[in-house]
Amino acid sequence: MPGAETFRASADAYDRLVGRYGPQLADALIGFAGIEPGMSALDVGCGPGALTRALAQRLGAVNVRAADPSAPFAEACRARVPEVEVVVAAAEALPFADGSFDAVLSQLVVNFMSDPHAGMREMARVARRGAVLAACVWDYAGEMTLLRAFWDAAREIDPERGADADEGVVMRWCGDGELAELWRQAGLGGVRFGALEVSASYDSFEDLWSPLPTGVAPSGAFCRSLDPERQAALREAFRRRLGVGDGPFELSARAWAVAGTAGEPRAPSS
Ligand SMILES: C[S@@+](CC[C@H](N)C(=O)[O-])C[C@H]1O[C@@H](n2cnc3c(N)ncnc32)[C@H](O)[C@@H]1O
Repeated sequence: MPGAETFRASADAYDRLVGRYGPQLADALIGFAGIEPGMSALDVGCGPGALTRALAQRLGAVNVRAADPSAPFAEACRARVPEVEVVVAAAEALPFADGSFDAVLSQLVVNFMSDPHAGMREMARVARRGAVLAACVWDYAGEMTLLRAFWDAAREIDPERGADADEGVVMRWCGDGELAELWRQAGLGGVRFGALEVSASYDSFEDLWSPLPTGVAPSGAFCRSLDPERQAALREAFRRRLGVGDGPFELSARAWAVAGTAGEPRAPSS
């Protein structure tokens, strides 16, 4: 999948870009998945730890583990939630025994997995029988306002490269209902699909723009690849499309969510 390498970057820049939606989204995903005190949980693709922290608050840190293939993001997660064990690992190769968790969650990650089917198999393997597996992804093509406006602006200033990089086009599993299909293909039962609505506040357009030239996330990588003139044109087109300026504002964002129930632990595939 495109873009996973763009998260081997500054966790601070990530937090200022999409990470600022993380805590609200984590609470919404936890509610959607039906996570209750007494459960153990794994956060797959934890990034700097928004969902890990929310899980630790609800379940107790000793009942939570987290994994991410990006060493700087795993380190940022450890710094944020020091009592949680955080491992550097991808979804496709989770270093946990079969049937270890009552819940396996993944926030904004499935579309970045190099092999989402293998990632799902691993998530199901480490889940106990009857455990909940839940995930969410941005509605890049529709109501994730920040990123939709960004890619529309990118396509305006560089139609060819903007279209090739537009996450609303290139990201799989991010359309209405697509994640549910992946969950069913993985053999999960009782699959539920829905929308999570969140928002984030900004002090000004500059507050929103400042992480992008660092190159974090696919949007940042696109921004950073432009020469200064085109980057300035992107900045202006983006600001105009959002209709914001020097004062504070808020943006809404929609994520698609899925939850399902694990069956018997699977034998390792040959
Ligand atoms: C958009 S960030 C989401 C981070 C965090 N879950 C959050 O909600 O803020 C995507 C994360 O997926 C991680 N990632 C990329 N490829 C992955 C894979 N194959 N397995 C697990 N995580 C992966 C990245 O390192 C990054 O931390």
